[in-house]
Amino acid sequence: MSHWLEESVFYEIYPQSFKDLNGDGIGDIPGIIQKLDYIKELGCNALWLNPCYLSPFGDAGYDVADYCQVAPRYGTNEDLVRLFKEVHKRDMHIILDFVPGHTSVEHPWFKESCKAEPNSYWGRYIWSDSIWTDVADYDGITGSLRGLYPRNGCVAVNFFSNQPALNYGFAHPTEPWQSPVDSPEALGTRQAMKDAMAFWLSKGCDGFRVDMAGSLVKNDTDSVETIRLWQDIRNYLDRAYPDAVLISEWGEPDKSLMGGFHMDFLLHFGPSHYMDLFRCEHPYFSREGKGDASAFVETYQKNYNLTKQKGMICIPSGNHDMDRIRKYLDYEELKLVYAFLLSMPGVPFLYYGDEIGMRHLELNSVEGGYGRTGARTPMQWDNGKNYGFSDGEEENLYTVQDSSIDAPVVSQQMAKADSLWHEIQKLIKIRRNYPSLCASGTIEFVYCQPKKYPLVYLRSDEKSRILVAINPSAEDVSCPCPYEMKEKIYGFGKDIQIENETLHMSGQSAGFVLV
Ligand code: NOJ
Repeated sequence: MSHWLEESVFYEIYPQSFKDLNGDGIGDIPGIIQKLDYIKELGCNALWLNPCYLSPFGDAGYDVADYCQVAPRYGTNEDLVRLFKEVHKRDMHIILDFVPGHTSVEHPWFKESCKAEPNSYWGRYIWSDSIWTDVADYDGITGSLRGLYPRNGCVAVNFFSNQPALNYGFAHPTEPWQSPVDSPEALGTRQAMKDAMAFWLSKGCDGFRVDMAGSLVKNDTDSVETIRLWQDIRNYLDRAYPDAVLISEWGEPDKSLMGGFHMDFLLHFGPSHYMDLFRCEHPYFSREGKGDASAFVETYQKNYNLTKQKGMICIPSGNHDMDRIRKYLDYEELKLVYAFLLSMPGVPFLYYGDEIGMRHLELNSVEGGYGRTGARTPMQWDNGKNYGFSDGEEENLYTVQDSSIDAPVVSQQMAKADSLWHEIQKLIKIRRNYPSLCASGTIEFVYCQPKKYPLVYLRSDEKSRILVAINPSAEDVSCPCPYEMKEKIYGFGKDIQIENETLHMSGQSAGFVLV
């Protein structure tokens, strides 16, 4: 593992909505640079930047038109390189979002591949050999386009219809138009991706969050060929850029870590039970106390055991694809959420604005956001014009902002010692002070029963053992706990007590103690 991940706490920046310095209503790279000290003061020391490349923005930039060119609305390539330098100057790191599964329909490769006459980009995307032969019925292909282009064939799409699928081959080709994974065209796509990664790594970026990393090879039900492909990319990076970090959007850590990723995200869809914690009818972290964390813990533990010593799993506070966590939980409940997120193994990811509990707004779709748009609203910095996000005209803002009288803003929360912002800052400091709480300290669940509170676990390394106990419910609770308290290092609400191997906790409380 690259050592810097061990103590990292990431801050995810959706560049459209973070800070606009040129007044066009859309965030930009100079704006991000201006706010680096703020991020550092909060305690985050690593950034994940959502796609900032040239794009028609049919899917907020996840439809790339040039992997090696910054979108003019965010600035220039030089601005991005300056951002890398400013980040490093502050002893922080930065990863870019990398989208290898598909491009936009505007990408010059795609335009070439649509031509009637064969050319060197004909094999860059997944095309059938006749307009009447559909490509959509194979594992990993979400749809197809036909009849739109001069070429006599259908082309596969990977997500939205404006995102044609790049061709990494089929694990088990059954038709003549399906490339084997080691065919020249599939290897050509792979090489093009290595080149794009090298382009940014050579300019100072520290690695990538890889979009839909498990989706590359088609008809690869058991992911064997996709894992092999990533191993090859990892081998290449190990030789050329050994410090480069790869983090996958995959959701199956046993597979992604085998592919050479350092970490994998737990996803809000699929089998992780992540949603049971914060975003469902009865979230575990709600004070009503009707939640259930046991299925989450069971899956987490299974994944943790499968990946032990090999890598890590990231549990984010949220991201640009899901409802803001504040939609389900209030400030006091959120403080307990962060006691959990910031004391788990792996690397915590904080979504911009979550540190002040920004609300989820119900909005019409912007740039292919649909229901996700409400989690992508411009940052609320202060009570000035457009909440300090932009000097531009309100009607030009990327989306509308929270108009409620009590909309959370950074400046107010920084001025208030008991704010969510300060609780998060405090928890990050404690995490960094104790290596056993950092990424690769081990975890052992001490108490987690179906529909029961509290949640108790032990984080350890060679030097210390820390018992973490969290009771999000409003009720006082007790549970068996065979440890003796030595020193309290964090508390929220009333102090926890351990007597006769029983842990007692008040409603809405948390404690970290050395045992
Ligand atoms: C996952 C990204 O997080 C999401 O925003 C995007 O729409 C899809 N992948 C397609 O790239």
